[in-house]
Amino acid sequence: SKVLVINGPNLNLLGTREPHIYGSTTLADVEDGLRAQARELGLELECFQSNHEGAIVDRIHQARLEGVKFVLINPGAYTHTSVAIRDAFGGVAIPFVEVHISNVHKREAFRHHSYLSDVAEAVMAGFGTMGYSLALQFIAAKLR
Ligand code: DQA
Repeated sequence: SKVLVINGPNLNLLGTREPHIYGSTTLADVEDGLRAQARELGLELECFQSNHEGAIVDRIHQARLEGVKFVLINPGAYTHTSVAIRDAFGGVAIPFVEVHISNVHKREAFRHHSYLSDVAEAVMAGFGTMGYSLALQFIAAKLR
């Protein structure tokens, strides 16, 4: 089964960006780890990162044409602003897990609301970059 990993804005800076909040693991490390895990789980995995809302919407649309079965997404700040990304998931009807490295609920009030959580299969927050790997394990179980 095909799984798509999407990382939103500023996650390209992972590892150097506010390491006290997001840790020192880079996005390349996270993606390499997920690819290795996917191989063991027998999943086909693709990774995508963009700082542009419309590019993320386009990638979600493309996922349907590619037969992607599940999406793992860290929408970054678009979590708290994007009706467009929410609607893209509604439009393609592909289930997804929402992942946040930090515990958004113990941070600023504007991070407490997500436009995605009530339509997500599951939500991870505060597990650090380990959250990606836990989410992929969940996805593999769901697809089995
Ligand atoms: C984040 C949390 C968001 O509030 C923030 O804008 C991010 C990263 C996280 O992974 O903890 O860019 O999604």
